[in-house]
Amino acid sequence: MSQDPAELDPALLLRELAREKFARRAAEDLLEQKSLQLYQRNLELEREIATRRDTEAALRDQAAALVRSNSDLEQFAYVASHDLQAPLRTISGFSQLLVRRNAALLDAESQEFLRFIDDGTKRLHTLIQDLLAFSRVSRSTLTPAAVKLQDVVTAVCDQLRLSLQAASAVVDAAGLPEVLADNTQMSLLFQNLIDNAVKFRRKDVAPQVRIRGEREDSHWHLVVEDNGIGIPAEHAERVFTIFQRLHRETEYAGTGIGLPICKKIVERRGGTIEAAAAVGHPGTAFHIRFPVLPPPQ
Ligand SMILES: Nc1ncnc2c1ncn2[C@@H]1O[C@H](COP(=O)(O)OP(=O)(O)OP(=O)(O)O)[C@@H](O)[C@H]1O
Ligand SMILES: [Mg+2]
Repeated sequence: MSQDPAELDPALLLRELAREKFARRAAEDLLEQKSLQLYQRNLELEREIATRRDTEAALRDQAAALVRSNSDLEQFAYVASHDLQAPLRTISGFSQLLVRRNAALLDAESQEFLRFIDDGTKRLHTLIQDLLAFSRVSRSTLTPAAVKLQDVVTAVCDQLRLSLQAASAVVDAAGLPEVLADNTQMSLLFQNLIDNAVKFRRKDVAPQVRIRGEREDSHWHLVVEDNGIGIPAEHAERVFTIFQRLHRETEYAGTGIGLPICKKIVERRGGTIEAAAAVGHPGTAFHIRFPVLPPPQ
């Protein structure tokens, strides 16, 4: 078979060789460029990993600091509320003694001043008791067990029977689930929420409290809804802070510890609590969500 004469042409062969060389160099350049880019991207990634590691360490430190400061605060609340009781007892004891022994010698104004002292000490006593109740919620040992929420609500309504009857309140709770939780804390949670639902009722409107609960994937979602005065959206978070109230003591009695206690209970169970507007009518709906399985103690 005869060969193509062009293939044997040395000039052509040389040109072909040069073209190949050029193409190889271009490919090598490209490879070098890509390697450089890869190297730079690697460096960036390493930097990103280092930054992420630093951020994670900072977050861990912050979380540890938060736990420390939380337990410091709880310790403080406990010690302060304990230690404040003794001087308070002295003040109220001696002012009562003063009234009893010298009532005849005191003019009307002085007697009024002593009444103010008495009112003030009573209020302080309530605040201290509430602070103690709050710190007890965080300090108590939890005993998670299967708790039938339907039974919890029935028992709470029984405890609140007198105030429910006085307000002609109706509590409608049906088909509530059985959850793994601490029975005492669940009772305290519903007691505070039902008590609020009845207390913050609208004038001339009998309170209606609807409680329902269902499972949503790995969470329980409980709702306690009333037809009362409602909570303005801008105050929906504030009401969960200790001693924060939206009304004067003379309008609605209380110190502002009920919802912070509810929040503490739900958070210890690994969940959240939110206040939202009731749907379709005036009132408030408290939404509680917590995982089906309790967090490790
Ligand atoms: N169901 C509700 N409807 C309308 N407002 C509410 C309701 N629940 C709570 N609030 C508002 O949130 C505030 C805080 O509630 P929280 O239960 O902590 O305190 P309180 O009921 O006033 O006092 P305490 O619970 O200590 O007796 C209340 O003072 C009230 O202004
Ligand atoms: Mg309350």
